[in-house]
Amino acid sequence: MRFARNFEHLIALLGGSEAVQARLGVGPSALSNYKARASLPATKFDLLAEAARQAGWQLDPDTLALAPLAGMRPVVLLIVTGGIAAYKGLDLARRLMDQGCQLRAVMTRGAQQFITPLSLSALIGEKVYTDLFDLTDEAEMGHINLARSADLVLVAPASAHFMAKLAHGLADDLASTLCLASEAPLLLAPAMNPVMWASQATRDNHDLLIRRGVQMVQPADGDMACGETGTGRLAEVPDIVRAALAALAGGGRIIQPAKTASLAGRHILVTSGPTHEPIDQVRYIANRSSGRQGHAIAAACVARGAQVTLISGPVSLPAPHGVRLVQVETADEMMAAAEAALPADIAVCAAAVADWRVENAASGKLKKQAGGPPEMRLVENPDILASLSNHPRRPQLVVGFAAETDTLIDHARVKLAKKGCDWILANQVAQEQGLVFGAEHNQVVLISNAPPEIWPEQDKQAIAERLADQMADSLARPDAAQ
Ligand code: C5P
Repeated sequence: MRFARNFEHLIALLGGSEAVQARLGVGPSALSNYKARASLPATKFDLLAEAARQAGWQLDPDTLALAPLAGMRPVVLLIVTGGIAAYKGLDLARRLMDQGCQLRAVMTRGAQQFITPLSLSALIGEKVYTDLFDLTDEAEMGHINLARSADLVLVAPASAHFMAKLAHGLADDLASTLCLASEAPLLLAPAMNPVMWASQATRDNHDLLIRRGVQMVQPADGDMACGETGTGRLAEVPDIVRAALAALAGGGRIIQPAKTASLAGRHILVTSGPTHEPIDQVRYIANRSSGRQGHAIAAACVARGAQVTLISGPVSLPAPHGVRLVQVETADEMMAAAEAALPADIAVCAAAVADWRVENAASGKLKKQAGGPPEMRLVENPDILASLSNHPRRPQLVVGFAAETDTLIDHARVKLAKKGCDWILANQVAQEQGLVFGAEHNQVVLISNAPPEIWPEQDKQAIAERLADQMADSLARPDAAQ
């Protein structure tokens, strides 16, 4: 358990799973095996220990716990702003210290309504700064020094108000002044009421900050302290720690560029969910599809700064924040919406489009009749993936999905050629395990012109994150992997 958690932290510190696989010269399944067995072959440990050392950390051979090398403790400036989640700032500070970070902390006036500077100060063993004018004293650290001493500025929780101040460059208190005066990467973990999170003003501020390279740990869904349900709850503390370590990746003062902006300036079209093909006014033909995978991909692309058009069939999921949602019912409508959304840099066709529609669909409700069931004539629907792949305004990268029951890789290869797309994410339909349809987890193989990549079984969000990262890499290196 401890090994697996520390291993994840280490992967985050070293720039993500792909970077670690490349460093170790292994595939993704090897990483899962090491995690499951809670041990690493000695040669692989040595490679990771060296990479960690270069980043300023020492690696424990048994538990993979990270301890900073002497004199290399990264400084995290934690800014706690107002909100009920402020109390989680205490746990966050402790966990960051467990990871060897040195903490400096600032609390806004709002935060002090929820926790006291004294409790945070007792925890980190340092003065907690609250006031711009605290810092004019010779004995104190000036605000410029406080800003410059940080390797990472982490705002958690970040309130809607604070995001708005950052977006506009306001500097009317210590916390906002420090953000403006620091050159360190800025990581925000927003937390607020779901309606405030969804409001256009917050959306615009969020998008603007992402475009500027600010990193975000997106808030979670669930019940809020205010009694409402929706998106806006502070992300889980271990997720924020992981994101902070990833932002500190490279260690010491060397910071990697923000991964979150890797799709900035790109337009990505994603199809998701089923289509409903009417039989009559109340009945329809459809494939099973929850839309989870497609919606997760759209969210992962937004989180990386892309402009996303999500064309969704009827689903019960809310659209991820920040997408342009086009709701459709039928394959014909989905096709038209996809064409209207062009030009796009990438198209991801994750929708489970019905292959056929009823040519002679009835306008009212068909009645049961003595003569038996009505005759239905089926005609083929447009293939959206194939059309986009062969379109005069073809996106640079076209990605499809394939659910197969047998000889997965061979079938997916045939499909790749037949449709003319660049990548297919193929998954085995394993009814007995409940994988694929509506499930949280999924196991996929990425088929392209390169050798197949078998991804470990993981949740659909993780698949979406990995796909988004690989798409960003592929656009950055257009000759690669397509
Ligand atoms: O041919 P098959 O339905 O197995 O192909 C699956 C892939 O093709 C998925 O990416 C799906 O979104 C896409 N597709 C499509 N339009 C169709 C049928 C499938 O875009 N009419």
